[in-house]
Amino acid sequence: MRISVPDLIFGFSRALDMVKPQLAGHHLGVAWIASELGQALSLPRTVRAQLFTAAMLHDAGAIPLKVSADDLLFERNTWLHTRAGWALLSRCAFLRPAASFVLFHHTPWSRLRDSGEALLPANLIHLADRAELFLRGGALLDASALESLLARHAGGKFHPDGVEALRALCARRGGRLALPSAQEMKHDLQTDCAQPDLDPDHLIPFCFLFSLITDFLSPFTATHTAGVAHTACILHRRHMLGTTGSVDPEENRKVFVAGLLHDIGKLGVPRALLEKEGPLDHDEFAQMKRHAEFSLSLLDNIPGLEDIRLWGALHHERLNGRGYPLGLAGGQLPLPSRIMAVADIFTALMEDRPYRKGMSLARALDILQTMEDNGHIDGTVLATLRAEAERINRVRAGAQRRARRRFDELYRICAEPVESDVRAFSACFNPPPPHPPTDSASGR
Ligand SMILES: [Fe+2]
Ligand SMILES: [Fe+2]
Ligand SMILES: [Fe+2]
Repeated sequence: MRISVPDLIFGFSRALDMVKPQLAGHHLGVAWIASELGQALSLPRTVRAQLFTAAMLHDAGAIPLKVSADDLLFERNTWLHTRAGWALLSRCAFLRPAASFVLFHHTPWSRLRDSGEALLPANLIHLADRAELFLRGGALLDASALESLLARHAGGKFHPDGVEALRALCARRGGRLALPSAQEMKHDLQTDCAQPDLDPDHLIPFCFLFSLITDFLSPFTATHTAGVAHTACILHRRHMLGTTGSVDPEENRKVFVAGLLHDIGKLGVPRALLEKEGPLDHDEFAQMKRHAEFSLSLLDNIPGLEDIRLWGALHHERLNGRGYPLGLAGGQLPLPSRIMAVADIFTALMEDRPYRKGMSLARALDILQTMEDNGHIDGTVLATLRAEAERINRVRAGAQRRARRRFDELYRICAEPVESDVRAFSACFNPPPPHPPTDSASGR
């Protein structure tokens, strides 16, 4: 299982864009401009790859902190989303260089100068961010528009070489810079930012990052993905051992990653629905159901991720064909997606929500039994869950407790508007890398 990094990042950045439809395509446009500037300044290839990653994910921190689109447009309270973005990305060891670019992507160059050129890419993202917002909706950056944009942001905000590179980019394009089509930008970026494929050891932390962003959409869902991924992983392992006597470790790892990504489509659901305390009405439920279809489409066209995409996105399908998004039935549903369905329902029943406590194990198993009787879920998977219920529930509860601590920690890091200082952040946010659960995980 090896996945192309740009392919994965394109999919994930589309997911980020779904949260703020007013800014759709923003990450791609910023990455394209920043990459053009990076090439013009002859930044080394490895730095350009980090610049691409940081630019494609630079506003990720705006999601958990509910930073508004206007705050991003007008650069208000920028320390909030830059710090949250840094805290999220730096959980992944191989994303740490990109994380520091995210942290400083609104800091004026006059305050970054002491870093030498190390933080130049952060400042290129800043410049590209302002240029992209100007160019949105088909605007053109000609010589006079460029000068007025730069005048608006005078006072040592941008590195002079970055400004010169932007002028040269305009000149190269006949004096009038416009954003190319999304397809053209992706093509250019794929050509410039080729990097080694992700192996499974890096894929898990990377997908874990997106599971955090999905969970952190709302305090209501802050631990759900962690619970489903861990439950599905251990349920799959116990089920395969019980029914075939062996487990394919690669398949088991894919089930874990599918659990991490199963609800990524929730980034496309209005936050008010995710946080509604009472029952959803008919229209609201129809909107909520679309998250499964979004999960399916966001992870489309990523070679190597085909199984993970299906196993995750089909978690609301039902054996009797009455589920969604595709209405598949019986033999059309692969076993890992049936396991995902049971893990998702089990986690939802057991977890605490702000408006209700989690259920007892006995009550949750009763409800699942009724669902099996009605042809919704796989009886053999439920039998495995029932036989190992205490053990599986301990793993689920432990994963959700750890997820709750991560959520609280992110808010603590972002609570005080102090000057950005990477060392101070590292001291309080130094997480262990995520792993699929083992059978011995007690969850304590
Ligand atoms: Fe930003
Ligand atoms: Fe931005
Ligand atoms: Fe779901």
